[in-house]
Amino acid sequence: MTHGEDDYICSRKEFSEKLEPGTLAVISSGRPVQCSLDADYPFYPDNNFYYLKGLTEPDTLYAVFKNGAGETVEYLFLPEPEPEREKWTGIRMRADEAAALSGIENILPRSGAADFLADLADEAKIYAGDAGQAVHQRFAPGSADFSEALSRCQLADVGPVLARLRLIKKPWEIDLMKQAVNITARGLNDLLGELHPGMREYEAAAVFEYAVRRAGAELSFPTIAASGKNGPILHYETNRNKMKRGDLVMFDLGARYCGYAADVSRTYPVSGTYSTRQRKLYDVVLGVQKDLISAYRTGVSLVQLQETTVELFKCRLPLAGFKLPEAGIGAWYYHSVGHSLGLDTHDGTSRDLVLEPRMVITCEPGIYIAEENVGIRIEDDILITEKGPVNLTEKIVKDPARIELLMK
Ligand code: GLY
Ligand code: MN
Ligand code: MN
Repeated sequence: MTHGEDDYICSRKEFSEKLEPGTLAVISSGRPVQCSLDADYPFYPDNNFYYLKGLTEPDTLYAVFKNGAGETVEYLFLPEPEPEREKWTGIRMRADEAAALSGIENILPRSGAADFLADLADEAKIYAGDAGQAVHQRFAPGSADFSEALSRCQLADVGPVLARLRLIKKPWEIDLMKQAVNITARGLNDLLGELHPGMREYEAAAVFEYAVRRAGAELSFPTIAASGKNGPILHYETNRNKMKRGDLVMFDLGARYCGYAADVSRTYPVSGTYSTRQRKLYDVVLGVQKDLISAYRTGVSLVQLQETTVELFKCRLPLAGFKLPEAGIGAWYYHSVGHSLGLDTHDGTSRDLVLEPRMVITCEPGIYIAEENVGIRIEDDILITEKGPVNLTEKIVKDPARIELLMK
């Protein structure tokens, strides 16, 4: 399945249906942020902006005005070409391309946006921005650009509207997520083939990242390659440790394809063989994870799934011979069992989310025992359907015997 302007038009139609008549909504792609004298941080468009148009241009504004009769007109404000600058940093998108990609007819110069929108705001009752946009990319109610025009409007936040739309994936979004999963699978497979004692965590991460980059994808988030004592650090990012025989190494990583993220965790034995105790603990986590996945059904809440995770660990760890910590299971399991996944790795999740068909939710229980230098997390990406859970990351090996076989 391919996706194109019709898909974004459909998303924008859903969005504008949620707006009150008399609303002017404006969403920005954001601005690049400088990281040193002569370079910016890599630019990623704001995901709510990207979701509605599939465009990645910086400093671009999308506006939709819904008049009192409920009719909508859309505008895109695109920065004007700067030929001198383009000699250094490349050709920027032109109006005709932006129109073709987004399906928006009214493409206007970015420099005129404030005046144009101020005039529109005169006709509007409500000015809606996205208050959740990252601080450096903010173009929300309260922004100086519109303070005069906005003083006459009631202000609204469209962030929650977009978060809700983004929770329910369209078929083409699921297709892109499957492609992100395929690239992630390839990278992890390469990694399994190369993992050995003496390797640095960053070397292992680089094997994965090479597979991602050469597939034309990006990383969903900085790769976590946490071996030995780093295993219990949930979002460990240093990745400098030398991996030792006898250590476990927990990888939490993912490829991001056309904006859509995969998010997978696997825990491997550096030597190629789990110790007896590591294997026992691994089997507990894997057993709990498999049971949880089967509970990922419509109507179940993340709160319930979290409670189930805790109960399962409390029951199964002692059965496997592990004495529970005196401080309680929270000393060994200290994060949420899952979150919605999509354009963001943590995609519009609230803790009281109730599962619905076409959501993609991670399932990632873990046990972390700092005194034993052990962190085991197993994470899959689960598509909720009317017929039950579909594990999008099913083919990424997690069976311990198969992992050992692949590492031989
Ligand atoms: N990689 C972050 C998470 O699994 O939530
Ligand atoms: Mn996750
Ligand atoms: Mn993860």
